[in-house]
Amino acid sequence: MKELISAEKISKRIKAIARKINRDYKGKQPIFIGVLNGSFILIADLVRELKVDCEIDFIKLSSYGDEKISSGEVKLLKELNCQIKGRDIVLIEDIVDTGLSVSYLRKLILKEKPASLRFVTLLYKKDICKIDFEIDYIGFEIENEFVIGYGLDFAQKYRNLKAVYVLQE
Ligand code: IMP
Repeated sequence: MKELISAEKISKRIKAIARKINRDYKGKQPIFIGVLNGSFILIADLVRELKVDCEIDFIKLSSYGDEKISSGEVKLLKELNCQIKGRDIVLIEDIVDTGLSVSYLRKLILKEKPASLRFVTLLYKKDICKIDFEIDYIGFEIENEFVIGYGLDFAQKYRNLKAVYVLQE
């Protein structure tokens, strides 16, 4: 594996995103929703940099299994426990690849009539992502390569690595 983004760079970027969220949500009490499993490290690091009051919940979608490409199908494996209606929602993803998962989540959450909905992702594969809405807070735009570490897995391994690596053949 080859290091793509160092732990130091990730940490700096998360602090910058947290500063922006602190400004954007001043006086509000957003609910941060982490998409399991991949976002567990990002949400833990991000919320500890926040000064706004925040609530935290998790949702779980089907993963790639042991594959490196999306099956093109999204399944809900764990529902939310919080009330969305009238609340400011910030959805936290580890990576936006094809955009299928965030599109699915956006529809699901908008149905519940939140006051607002924004998205955070650590990584964004700009060349293959096909969505018609904006990802509000992006850590890093990356090429179309399979990456691991900092929460991201391949066949459930490597999530514990502190940096992000490209998994080479
Ligand atoms: P999307 O629905 O294609 O945008 O993919 C979103 C989900 O696929 C992410 O939350 C990850 O769980 C997984 N995924 C996409 N690309 C990668 C990758 O490069 N490494 C590890 N997991 C990935």
